[in-house]
Amino acid sequence: MDKYFVLGNPVSHSLSPRIHGLFAEQTGELLRYERLLVRPDGLDVVLRDLQVKGAAGCNITVPFKEQAYQLCAQRTPRAKWAQAGNTIQFAGDQMIIDNTDGLGLVRDIVQNAGVALADKRILLLGAGGAAAGALGALLDAKPAALVLANRTSERAVRLVASHRAYAKQITPGCRLEAATLLDLPQLGAFDVIINATSSSLDGEALHLPPTLLAPSALVYDMMYGKAAQGFLQAAQAMGAQTRDGLGMLVEQAAEAFFFWRGLRPKTAPVLQTLLAELPQ
Ligand code: ATR
Repeated sequence: MDKYFVLGNPVSHSLSPRIHGLFAEQTGELLRYERLLVRPDGLDVVLRDLQVKGAAGCNITVPFKEQAYQLCAQRTPRAKWAQAGNTIQFAGDQMIIDNTDGLGLVRDIVQNAGVALADKRILLLGAGGAAAGALGALLDAKPAALVLANRTSERAVRLVASHRAYAKQITPGCRLEAATLLDLPQLGAFDVIINATSSSLDGEALHLPPTLLAPSALVYDMMYGKAAQGFLQAAQAMGAQTRDGLGMLVEQAAEAFFFWRGLRPKTAPVLQTLLAELPQ
């Protein structure tokens, strides 16, 4: 039976085994999927060990997405744009890395939430790994403007600069700009605002000035459950529709499943099951 793993630290909270278990059940694919806690300096050894033992593939979660990218000689274009990956396929002595996070985010917004991104104004908050994973896929959706705002200006400027050529090629009409969180009151209104920062892990929800919200704006947090609540409740109080990142988690997993198995599972029933199982 093909074996898959999710590698992270911490990893005990990961819903990936449950999600891929549900995908396997739904599609009739025979596979096993387990969590693997990796020491901070242990990724290289663990990946080689899995390969030698004949694992079929693995997902990579925090904090290893950039390191995994560096360790894989073969990279899909979207992993290259993000300089990070969340999905590895073992093929003989090769390791191929992909990044399905960005597509997962866009599918959840466009297909599941029913909110169009084409010709819209998007604000992406953050310039770390989560934002880097999302930027290419958001540009693929051809927005009218994409502003990336981060606490630290240099990181925002660098991430935008690294995607400038891609933006020109894929969506020449899109205004792609870097900003800082201090600029937020002056940026105008956005149709979609996406929180890709880890600020809620510090226990402080980012503050959004009300001027940022276009009528019926969608405010999205890539985190899910409790971690997303503070930020989303404040946005809801200002009249925005809100959504946490559980759907993104399911969609990125579905794309990883497709990368490995060539089959695209239905995501809606899996999301429903998780919502019913998770503590409210
Ligand atoms: P991840 O892989 O989750 O993106 P990361 O690469 O460490 O993690 O990036 C964390 C992001 O959250 C960064 O954009 C960071 O801003 P800085 O680049 O200025 O560090 C942002 N972030 C973390 N804590 C924050 C806070 N309390 N307020 C605002 N932004 C925060």
